[in-house]
Amino acid sequence: MVQMKKVLITGVAGFIGFHTAKKLLEKGFLIVGVDNLNDYYDVSLKKDRLAILKDYEGFVFYEKDISEGLDVEKTGGVIHLAAQAGVRYSLENPLAYEQANNKGTLQVFEYARKNGIKKVVYASSSSVYGDCQEAPFKEDFKLDKPISLYAATKKYNELMAYTYHHLYGIKMTGLRFFTVYGPWGRPDMALFKFTKNILREKEIEVYNKGEMFRDFTYVDDIVSGVIKSYEKDFQYEIFNLARGETVKLMDFIKAIEKATGKKAKISFKELQPGDVLRTDGDISKARRMLGYQPSISVDEGVKKFVEWYKEYYL
Ligand SMILES: NC(=O)c1ccc[n+]([C@@H]2O[C@H](COP(=O)([O-])OP(=O)(O)OC[C@H]3O[C@@H](n4cnc5c(N)ncnc54)[C@H](O)[C@@H]3O)[C@@H](O)[C@H]2O)c1
Repeated sequence: MVQMKKVLITGVAGFIGFHTAKKLLEKGFLIVGVDNLNDYYDVSLKKDRLAILKDYEGFVFYEKDISEGLDVEKTGGVIHLAAQAGVRYSLENPLAYEQANNKGTLQVFEYARKNGIKKVVYASSSSVYGDCQEAPFKEDFKLDKPISLYAATKKYNELMAYTYHHLYGIKMTGLRFFTVYGPWGRPDMALFKFTKNILREKEIEVYNKGEMFRDFTYVDDIVSGVIKSYEKDFQYEIFNLARGETVKLMDFIKAIEKATGKKAKISFKELQPGDVLRTDGDISKARRMLGYQPSISVDEGVKKFVEWYKEYYL
C-alpha cells in the first residue's frame, strides 16, 4: 500500500502549493508535485519557488497540464491546488477557467478514482459566497448565485467532489480560502501590486473608493489548515479558511504604508465587475473540527511580505 505520507500536490509551483509542499517536506512527507508553469503571471517566480523545493530529497516534479490527465505515479492522497485563479481575469478569458478548473479538477478526481486513492483535499474559494448579504459567511449557506465565472467554477468543483465521494467513496475536503497573502505571493493580487507601486512612489488603483472589506489570511495559517485537513479523516466536508476578521481595504493600505515607510498615492476607481464588496469568513467550524487557529495579524503578515518583497526584488 502506498503510504499516506506520499502526497500528490497539484499547482505546486504556485503560491499556496509551494508553501504547502515546503511545510510537508520539512515534516518528512514525500511530495509528487505537478504544475504546468503557465504564464498567467511571471514564470520566473514559479521557477524560483520550485528551485527551493527541488533541494529536498523527498520532492519529485512533473511539468504537466492537469486537464490532459495525470499519468503520474500512485500516491497515498491528493492536495489539489492547481487552478486558473483570479476573479478579474475570468471576465477576459473565461475558457481558461473551464479548462484548468473544471476539466482539470475532473482529471484530478479521475486520477484518484483510477488509482484507488481515498483522500483528496482541494481548494475552493471565498468567492463562492458572491454578494452574500449575511455575514460572517458560513459553510452551510445556500450558494447558487456566483457573480464571476471563477466563482462558478469553484462552486462546480465542490459539486463534483460530492459526486466522486458519493460514487466512489473518496474522502473529499474542500477549503474555501479567503484572500491569502504572504511571502512569495501572487503578482496579480492587491498586496503585491500596492507594495510594488508604493515602493516606486507610483499611483495605486483603489476600487469603490476603498469601501471594500476583505478577510485577509496569512499563508502560514492557510497551510496549517490544509495540512490539518489532510491529516484528518472526514468523509465529505467544506471549511472556510480565513483569519476570521474582516479588514477595511484602506486599513490594509495603511499597514503597507507602515511596513514600507512610504505614503501611498491613491487613484480611486469604480468597483470592478465580478468583484465582491466584502468577504468575512466564519471559522468556527474549522476551529472546532480541524483545530485550525489562525495566528498572524494583518500588521505582522504585511510586514513579512514587504521584507520578502524587498529582499527578492530590490
Ligand atoms: N491566493 C488566494 O487568495 C486564493 C483564494 C481563494 C482560492 N484560492 C485557490 O487556491 C489555489 C492556489 O492558489 P494560488 O494563490 O497558489 O494560485 P497560483 O496561481 O499561484 O497557483 C496555481 C498554480 O497552478 C498552476 N496551474 C494552473 N493551471 C494548471 C493546469 N491546467 N495544469 C497544471 N498546473 C496548473 C499554475 O501554474 C500555478 O503555479 C487555487 O485553486 C486558487 O483558486 C486562492
